[in-house]
Amino acid sequence: MSYQTIIVETRGKTGLVTFNRPQALNALNEALIAELNTALVDFETNPEIGCTVITGSEKAFAAGADVKEMAEKTYIEAYLARFLDGWTRIADTRKPVIAAVSGFCLGGGLELAMMCDLIVASETARFALPEITLGIMPGAGGTQRLPRFIGKAKAMDLILTGRMMDAAEAERAGLVSRVVAPDKLLAEALAAADKIASYSQPIVMMAKETVNRAQETSLAEGARFERRLFLSMFATTDQKEGMDAFIAKRKPVFRNR
Ligand code: CAA
Repeated sequence: MSYQTIIVETRGKTGLVTFNRPQALNALNEALIAELNTALVDFETNPEIGCTVITGSEKAFAAGADVKEMAEKTYIEAYLARFLDGWTRIADTRKPVIAAVSGFCLGGGLELAMMCDLIVASETARFALPEITLGIMPGAGGTQRLPRFIGKAKAMDLILTGRMMDAAEAERAGLVSRVVAPDKLLAEALAAADKIASYSQPIVMMAKETVNRAQETSLAEGARFERRLFLSMFATTDQKEGMDAFIAKRKPVFRNR
C-alpha cells in the first residue's frame, strides 16, 4: 500500500506511523484518517508487531482537523457522511499505541493523542483544544477524554478559553506520560514500544483493556473484571514461561499463547 499523507515503517516489533502533511502542520483530513486506520489495522493483524508509535514533525504532531476541508460542510453532509466516526479507530486497537508528540498537538490532534495509551512529549509540545475559537467545540471525544485525564477544572479552562498548555503543565496535569528533550523524543517512544512489544501480546492486550475499564466503570466492577482476566492468565503458556524464567534466572521467551 502506498501512502500519501503518512509514512509507515516498522522498527523491529514496532509499527511506526509518521503524519506527513508538513504544508498544513499535519492537519488531519479525511485522507489521512483513512490511511492511518489502514496502517493501524495492518499492524493490529500482523503477529510480528506488538506496539505502534504515532508521531508527527518537530513543529507539529497535528494542528487539528483540517479546517479548510471542514469549513464549507453543511450539517446534513456531515450527518449523512458520519463525519468523525472514523476518527476513533485508535481507541479500538487492542495492541498498545504510543503518541510521540512534538510541537503543536491541537484539536483533533490532541483528541487522537488521547486515544493512544501513552503520550510521550517533547519539551516543545503544546497542547490545546482551540475549537471554541473557530465557533465549534471538540467533536472527536475531547470534551469527554480531557476531563478524565486532567479533571474538570483544567479541562474547562482549556476547552472554554482555547489556550495552549506547555509540556511541563501537561505533565503536571497528568495528560502526558513522559516529557523528554526534543532530540530524544522518537528514541524514547520507540524504546517504550520495544519494551512493550517484548512481552506476551495477549497479556499486554488484556492489561490495556483492563486499565481502560477503569475509565468506564465502577471500582467494584472494574476490580471484578480485572480478577476474571487475571485468573484466566493462568491458562496461558506465557504465564508459565514468565514465571519459570524468573525462577530459573533466565530471560523469558514469550510465544503469545
Ligand atoms: N487546518 C488546515 N490548515 C491548517 C491547520 C488546520 N487545522 N493548521 C494549520 N494549517 C495551515 C495554515 O493554514 C497554513 O497554511 P498556508 O501556508 O497555506 O496559509 C500552514 O498550515 C501553516 O500554518 P500557520 O501559518 O498558521 O503557522 P503558525 O506557526 O503561524 O501557527 C498554529 C500555527 C497556531 C498551529 C495555527 O496554524 C493554528 O492556529 N492552526 C489551527 C489550529 C486549530 O484551530 N485546530 C483545531 C481544528 S478543529 C478540530 O480539530 C475539530 C475536531 O475536534 C475534530
